[in-house]
Amino acid sequence: MNDSLLIIDERNDYLSLIEVIIESEFQVNIIKSKSYDEANKYLYGRKDIKAILFNLNATCTTLENTNHIPLIAYGKDLAFLKDKETPYVENPFDEENLYSALGPLLTNKEDHLQIELDGTDTPLKKVNLITLGLFSEFSYDLYLKLSGDKFIQVGKEGNDDLKEIIEHYKSKKITHLYLKESDYYKYLDHAKSIIKANQSLSRENSKKFTTIEIFDFAFQISRDQLQAIGLTKFQEEFVHSAMEELIVDLKENKTIYQRIKEFFKEPNYIVDHSLLTIYLCSMILKKMGWSNEQTIKQVIYAGFFHDIFITEELARIRNLEELNLDREKRLVLNHISSAAEILEGIKGINNDAHKMIIDHHELPDGTGYPHGLTANQLPPLSCVFILAHYIVDYLYDENFETKNHTTFIQQMQSVWDQGNFTRPYKCARSLLLD
Ligand SMILES: [Fe+2]
Ligand SMILES: [Fe+2]
Repeated sequence: MNDSLLIIDERNDYLSLIEVIIESEFQVNIIKSKSYDEANKYLYGRKDIKAILFNLNATCTTLENTNHIPLIAYGKDLAFLKDKETPYVENPFDEENLYSALGPLLTNKEDHLQIELDGTDTPLKKVNLITLGLFSEFSYDLYLKLSGDKFIQVGKEGNDDLKEIIEHYKSKKITHLYLKESDYYKYLDHAKSIIKANQSLSRENSKKFTTIEIFDFAFQISRDQLQAIGLTKFQEEFVHSAMEELIVDLKENKTIYQRIKEFFKEPNYIVDHSLLTIYLCSMILKKMGWSNEQTIKQVIYAGFFHDIFITEELARIRNLEELNLDREKRLVLNHISSAAEILEGIKGINNDAHKMIIDHHELPDGTGYPHGLTANQLPPLSCVFILAHYIVDYLYDENFETKNHTTFIQQMQSVWDQGNFTRPYKCARSLLLD
């Protein structure tokens, strides 16, 4: 069995490029992890992981490295590690540095394969099909390894569509193809320039958006907005791990899954407030001592679907009387019933999610819709959802600045500190003001 190497970095492109560099030199099973929390899960009880390579600059919690596996740090400005025991690599994209750091730890080197081309021996390098497609649009001379040192050419530089070749061989369960060494370095340079461009882009956007990817489902969320609701790293990871399980269930219904993927593609008010409501609910529930995976999953379902059928303008209507046209009133009422209906086709949903959707425009004093229910007629979980949804809307209006928080939360008291809203309101108040 091959050794395994665990790499931890919050950026997908970093993980992939490091994989490309390592795979061409070592026979190693690479495990990529986007967080320390996830890495801890991999580490638990495994004996095949021979080294851990991690980005020291990434958001760091603790790694429960109870197996005493050698650690290699990488990142910027690591000279302070000189006197410590942890070995480090200043630039993980410098192949030679990486090879010399990993060389003593990994047993099996990749064979240096070559083919004869026009009478000369030409060295080849192995590349993973997924990363090949990720970092390049160019076509190369590509070779498929048959057995021993036998290869056949399966792609020709300039002639074949790279994406088509990749898809074709992926469907045949082939994981790697080979490039001429000279092409490999061209490919690597191209990949590095893509990463560099991504890096400056992500520096620009770092204050603005973080992309959360769960399998092939992705959304962008603003760090500033998350900060305004006081989301802790722990709660964030808790929500994401519940989302992960839920996505697996959602995928069983292709149409609904596709629809929800499309819905979250571009950040806008509807997407932002749906996600922020989920995160804020999770914080309130935690404060209420009511945070468990089953409950948070129902909140996520409600958050994902509650406004999937409405426009931004109409989503913000608090009182149906604000609308003059019957057609608009009908649209607003329909977005609730259609969302509740779509849930019927989804596995894993229970009545709580359904109720949160039906109730999300109700208000404690009975001025909401569709039924004008009051604080004692609404179930506690609906109250948490309605409250979080209301606060997120307010924050949106304030552009997520917190200077008026105190007045706003205090003013809410007369309406919100009653019936089944009392506990959620008190917990939200202490969350946002203490
Ligand atoms: Fe909403
Ligand atoms: Fe709504």
